[in-house]
Amino acid sequence: MATDTATTPTAGILSDDMKDDREQLVELLTRAYWMEIETVMSYIANSVNPDGVRAQEIIESLDKDIQEELGHAQQFAARIKELYGVVPGSMEFTAEQSYLQPPEHQTDIVHVIKGVIEAETGAIEHYNAVIEFTEGTDPVTNDMVIAILRDEEGHRRLFEGYLREYEAEGKA
Ligand SMILES: [Fe+2]
Ligand SMILES: [Fe+2]
Repeated sequence: MATDTATTPTAGILSDDMKDDREQLVELLTRAYWMEIETVMSYIANSVNPDGVRAQEIIESLDKDIQEELGHAQQFAARIKELYGVVPGSMEFTAEQSYLQPPEHQTDIVHVIKGVIEAETGAIEHYNAVIEFTEGTDPVTNDMVIAILRDEEGHRRLFEGYLREYEAEGKA
């Protein structure tokens, strides 16, 4: 006989038994969502502000990353909804990326490179925590965040390479 419980999965992260885990996960995903949104803001500014010949590579690279980070934000938002959460409104946003504010001089590319590395490192650390949290409880989120983590590791590695070049010249 059909009952209300028949509409709720009995296994997995959507099951009633997993309600507490699910709510904790929505909080982790909401933090991830805000991190991506702030990164989009920071990368837009830092893909426009820098001056100089050598800034062009950084500008192009960040320009491309903006779309990827935006895509990450959308994936986190979609997953929040699938887990019965609500994607927050802008009034709940709190900025954290002090290290990606515009430098005093717009030719200060090292400042931008270091800021990007710090943002990517923060994402890598948080996403590893989400992957650990979902291990064995939510394979769908686990899988999604693993793919996003790979993007962030790639971003970080690329900017680490830029920094090495400046370090080699004694400019960082
Ligand atoms: Fe991202
Ligand atoms: Fe990234």
